[in-house]
Amino acid sequence: MATIEMKNIVKKYGDGFPAVNDVSIDVADGEFLILVGPSGCGKSTLLRMIVGLEDITSGDMVIGGERVNDLAPRDRNLAMVFQNYALYPHLTVYENIAFPLRLKKRPEKEIDEKVRQASRTLDLDEHLERKPGNLSGGQRQRVAMGRAIVRDAKAFLFDEPLSNLDAKLRGQMRTEIARLQKQLGITTVYVTHDQTEAMTLGDRVAVMKRGVLQQLASPRELYEQPVNLFVAGFIGSPPMNFLPATVEDGQVTLPFGTFPLPADKAERTEGKGLLLAGIRPEHFEDVSVMADDAVDGTRTFQAHVDVREWLGDQQYAYVPYDAEAQVQDQLRDLAREADSESLRTQLVVSLDAASGAQGDDDVTLFIDSDRLHFFDPKSGENLTVGL
Ligand SMILES: Nc1ncnc2c1ncn2[C@@H]1O[C@H](COP(=O)(O)OP(=O)(O)OP(=O)(O)O)[C@@H](O)[C@H]1O
Ligand SMILES: [Mg+2]
Repeated sequence: MATIEMKNIVKKYGDGFPAVNDVSIDVADGEFLILVGPSGCGKSTLLRMIVGLEDITSGDMVIGGERVNDLAPRDRNLAMVFQNYALYPHLTVYENIAFPLRLKKRPEKEIDEKVRQASRTLDLDEHLERKPGNLSGGQRQRVAMGRAIVRDAKAFLFDEPLSNLDAKLRGQMRTEIARLQKQLGITTVYVTHDQTEAMTLGDRVAVMKRGVLQQLASPRELYEQPVNLFVAGFIGSPPMNFLPATVEDGQVTLPFGTFPLPADKAERTEGKGLLLAGIRPEHFEDVSVMADDAVDGTRTFQAHVDVREWLGDQQYAYVPYDAEAQVQDQLRDLAREADSESLRTQLVVSLDAASGAQGDDDVTLFIDSDRLHFFDPKSGENLTVGL
């Protein structure tokens, strides 16, 4: 086990394009770190530089206190864990796990001890004589991890190991990986472009965009305190709503009304002209399902719901609104950057399952305007981070 320190890591490919641009991340011993970002942002490149499959253009890669820039992959002692395609179909589970030890010509007794210990940890005892082709996806994943465990690797590295599984299995595997990682306490770096995986698996999450680290924080902090528009739009599903906003006299004016703001938020945003306000779908509610004394009349507005999606435990309602062309262009750019299609000039609100709101329906909605974020429309910076 070891720490992984990435110091000002840069990767330029032959054409000079910086695929990874000055990224610094410290992964603590035993930590589960997620690298997340849209396609092409440099996640795999960064992971491959940790393992040694890709040269580092500049910066230092330090693993367990040792600078490894010039070490070959086999001398770094890291385990890259893939799913099924990395298992040998003609070998039994036992031999698959034993494989790295056989390569190193370890004595039979040591091999047997290590394989059986890994198999106990991974709950694979009754499958040792079976072939990988006859196992479930989850069992195969455990075999792949077993092979990494017997090597006593310093860290586990995963590159989108679940991306080709169906949704249900992906959910199970996610839980499995999280459980094993905690149990084994092995430093882990896990690449994904799936923000649900990022939020549920990691101790901390590094969000990248075009080779540049945007924010490195716990899942909760990313969700509640995104530092910029990109992180705010990328983390969360359905995504945060972005709306044109101006703040005056302690109040915010949005396309569908004017609402009170906490003093500290107003102070940071007043007199700044047109801003982009961000608010998550769950910070709205249908007034008709709220207790009377919970409804503050200064925070309600009339809305026309055009589509409603019923999910059983909650429902999403879509409320279109008009915005100037300039704002619309900005929202479109944002959607493109975040690999998302859903940032249109419509609100997505998450309502209590008891709400009777229908598609093509007028409802009175409550907005928890204290929860608004405000972003500088040019730089994308969150002006109210920490408030
Ligand atoms: N061998 C290469 N030669 C030149 N450019 C490359 C090479 N490999 C990757 N790139 C470029 O580097 C950038 C980052 O690629 P990378 O594979 O790290 O992205 P990623 O974040 O893993 O994306 P994905 O989610 O699609 O796997 C991309 O713009 C890509 O085109
Ligand atoms: Mg990749």
